[in-house]
Amino acid sequence: MEKVIDESIQGSALELVSKPENSKKLFIESYGCQMNFSDSEIVASILAETGYNTTKVLEEADLVLVNTCSIRDKAEQTVRKRLETYQVAKRKNPGMKVGVLGCMAERLKSQLLEEEKIVDLVVGPDAYKDLPNLLVEVEAGRDAINVILSKDETYGDIAPVRLDTTGVSAFVSITRGCDNMCTFCVVPFTRGRERSREPQSIMDEISDLWQKGYKEVTLLGQNVDSYLWYGGGLKKDFVKATDLQKATAVSFADLLDRVATAFPKLRVRFTTSNPQDMHTEVLEVIAKHANICKHIHLPIQSGSDRILKLMNRLHTREEYFTLIDNVRRIVPDCAITQDIITGFPTETEEDHADTIDLMKKVRYDFGYMYAYSERPGTLAGRKMEDDVPQEVKLRRLREIVDLQQIHSAERTQAFVGQIVEVLVEKESKRSKAEWAGRNSQNLTTVFPKGHYQVGDFVNVLIHRCTSGTLIGEAVGYGSMQS
Ligand code: SAH
Ligand code: F3S
Repeated sequence: MEKVIDESIQGSALELVSKPENSKKLFIESYGCQMNFSDSEIVASILAETGYNTTKVLEEADLVLVNTCSIRDKAEQTVRKRLETYQVAKRKNPGMKVGVLGCMAERLKSQLLEEEKIVDLVVGPDAYKDLPNLLVEVEAGRDAINVILSKDETYGDIAPVRLDTTGVSAFVSITRGCDNMCTFCVVPFTRGRERSREPQSIMDEISDLWQKGYKEVTLLGQNVDSYLWYGGGLKKDFVKATDLQKATAVSFADLLDRVATAFPKLRVRFTTSNPQDMHTEVLEVIAKHANICKHIHLPIQSGSDRILKLMNRLHTREEYFTLIDNVRRIVPDCAITQDIITGFPTETEEDHADTIDLMKKVRYDFGYMYAYSERPGTLAGRKMEDDVPQEVKLRRLREIVDLQQIHSAERTQAFVGQIVEVLVEKESKRSKAEWAGRNSQNLTTVFPKGHYQVGDFVNVLIHRCTSGTLIGEAVGYGSMQS
């Protein structure tokens, strides 16, 4: 999940893999979406079996891996800058090998090896199991590349190593790839066709997390509502499934219900929902379970029907309003958050006004907003002129960011005087005497530590707030405390 305007969040591995038999050191860092952070945990797990412990110190690494994002040009530029830093480190440590993983690896393929002399290894999102073989090539002094996309790889059989964690909250991927083909988006090209992970492997991973003391999972996918397990294969091939496979297929609503029922004291989140695939069954499951967080990330991209159509978003503004009405009716206390793009090709002031109008009607709790960035290979990149001037895109972006801030402040203010249940995740950044966690609606909440511990569910009476943070005091354990 990315910050408003800021292109990417970044994290590097804690020294979590430290097996005595491993002699080599891996420095791995991730940019972009949560799926990349989750994939890096799979990569660290594969490499833990190949002789690598993780390190936080770049200079001492034998292998540096960067898991990259291609969603906007700026995200790619950030990674290119990072490669320059590795170059400096490599001068001091000439044995160091550098690999690029993820979406940039998939998009640029061998071009990366040519353009970035420092890169020894290029591996796409579906080829991580080939890393041990590729590293043999690299050790022999040859460049190594595997960017083959898969029909069925879900890494369901790999237990991820948890990186950068306080042991409270973890990501669990449930689908890979995306079949939606939004015309601005590079993801279907870099992550391939959509496939769902076998439900039992999801349940097993969650059970393992629960036994290790985790208190929250976030089910991850580019489009979670389109999750469909029918015995393997691509989502698009479901039409060819047997009658039995169709009759026993598991939908996202089924999966969510199973997880929430099996682990009643585990908080469950999920992201991302595409409006066209979000059905009332999912809303009913959310409403039914106290442990499913009341927050839906529901990107709209634009408030204009004309632009939605050009984007190949397969719903109208009216249909989106119907969905919002259903959310408010079935899950009344649900937070709704958005992604919006300004300056998509041909966007007029009128289209922009439609977006503003839609925001005013929905009054989102939070949002991630971006200026359109043309991506080579996408339909918009090939067929539509990037004709909205940069200053216009940025001015429109500023207007929607400012409006979102007003709405976020309103939504946050509404919690003042209320008691919210918070899962304690870590020490607050502003004070060592305070804990920080999130409430069900995903709002960061801070309060004096008292006798509470990381991993506790605490009821917090909210006294005041900033636009994005609730501030209060603990009044006892929450209902989810086991
Ligand atoms: N379904 C995915 C979407 C990934 S991209 C998910 O899991 O969130 C995240 C957001 O980036 C999109 O919703 C969109 O708002 C934005 N985005 C995608 N391509 C873009 C582009 N070419 N220019 C600007 N923003 C883009
Ligand atoms: Fe991208 Fe649209 Fe899929 S934004 S990830 S193509 S739902």
